Amino acid sequence: MINIAVFISGRGSNFLALLKNIEKGIIQNCRIAVVFSNNPSAKGLEYAVSAGIEIITIPSKNRSDRAEYDKEIINALAEYNIDLICLAGYMRIVTSELVEAYENRIINIHPALLPSFSGLHAQKQALDYGVKVSGCTVHFVDSGMDTGPVILQKTVPVYDNDTEDTLSARILEQEHIAYSEAVALYAAGKLQVSGRKVKILDK
Ligand code: GAR
Repeated sequence: MINIAVFISGRGSNFLALLKNIEKGIIQNCRIAVVFSNNPSAKGLEYAVSAGIEIITIPSKNRSDRAEYDKEIINALAEYNIDLICLAGYMRIVTSELVEAYENRIINIHPALLPSFSGLHAQKQALDYGVKVSGCTVHFVDSGMDTGPVILQKTVPVYDNDTEDTLSARILEQEHIAYSEAVALYAAGKLQVSGRKVKILDK
């Protein structure tokens, strides 16, 4: 059984999609052992509490000591025997402290086709640039920003009359599918990382 820690900062819809797909058996051999947030008022924490999942919050406001902050996270996670960390709308850059403690065991979802439109407001960046296709990327996390090896991507069309909200909603639907697929592949031992490349075995 793979013990997952999901990291959130806000709404938590990707966390909820993972939880539902574990419950439905779409993702097998996994349990969400704990939900971590840097934001004590993250809406997603309420879903965790009502599902009976333990939560940890360490407020990050006014914390510029990123490495120290991440060491506190590592200590807080120690008792949960975490195999995999899923960043799901976790809006804080992780340091090499955390990345090295969980090498190739941290994955993230980003609402654009990386390496395009990394960082904040990816959907707005895509709209402003005028691309015709966007989407989402699930990737392993390294110590750069949105730079780790890509696990999988899903595309969506961008329409002339899209707003940031309509495009974000279309991408979010695909995020919920993509993240579950990636976690299921991870849990089945089907992801082989070699440098920048992630090979999906038996596919
Ligand atoms: C999602 O769109 C996720 O891809 C994005 O934040 C949103 C969180 O939504 N993450 C990033 O932009 C990370 N760079 P959620 O809280 O409902 O899952």
